[in-house]
Amino acid sequence: MRKYLIAGNWKMKMTRDTSVALVNKLLDELEPSENVEVAVCPPAVYLHDVGAALRGSHIGLGGQNMHAAPEGAFTGEISSGMLKDIGCQYVILGHSERRQYFVETDADVNEKLKVALSVGLIPIVCVGETLEQRESGSTAEVIAEQIRGSLSGLDAADGAKIVVAYEPVWAIGTGKTATPEQAEEVHAQIRGLLRELFGAETAATIRIQYGGSVKPDNASELLGQPNIDGALVGGASLKADGFAAIIAAAK
Ligand code: 13P
Repeated sequence: MRKYLIAGNWKMKMTRDTSVALVNKLLDELEPSENVEVAVCPPAVYLHDVGAALRGSHIGLGGQNMHAAPEGAFTGEISSGMLKDIGCQYVILGHSERRQYFVETDADVNEKLKVALSVGLIPIVCVGETLEQRESGSTAEVIAEQIRGSLSGLDAADGAKIVVAYEPVWAIGTGKTATPEQAEEVHAQIRGLLRELFGAETAATIRIQYGGSVKPDNASELLGQPNIDGALVGGASLKADGFAAIIAAAK
């Protein structure tokens, strides 16, 4: 049985005060749950304060990105070890905004993924097609290439430690959610690819989150699909009530 993972990706938003206030409110509102895991991924500069507020709680902490090198002369970058050190359990890798604006390739994601696993971080590996790719009928091909490229060289034991997030680029921040059927179609395809890579037993345990305009009012339908095992939430994770409502939908 897969446990839902509902994670908030705060992107480059929030302040130190609103960050801490948000997680304190979440801690007040949310009870630990048997079937839902919750995590927040604040901007790197707020990981310390948010992590301090969350310490010992049932809410996990994640980074939004990392550099593949363990350390070195990479001004402005953050390593996997630093994320671990500050208390992260998760790291988002290959978000479409990183792919689009920072030209991250599947090979880059693959390299970071292996480093993240080596330090014990759970990578949330993002894939998703653009509107142009969907309209030209190449969604399945794009997803297959991203999954195979990003997860290349992983054995089943490592495969079992990852989370995949399907985020159609056209649904991110646009208010246009994929229909539950559209999302499930791609999630089922991803499950099939994971089966090819890691075998049926491992593939059945890997969580595949959906992301892209997830809101309290569409969450239960999306999360009700057989291969949707959680959500990676942007905008709606910035308000405690909305995020808690999405978590309640998973429960
Ligand atoms: P929105 O929920 O704001 O569409 O963002 C989704 C996303 O990119 C999460 O990583």
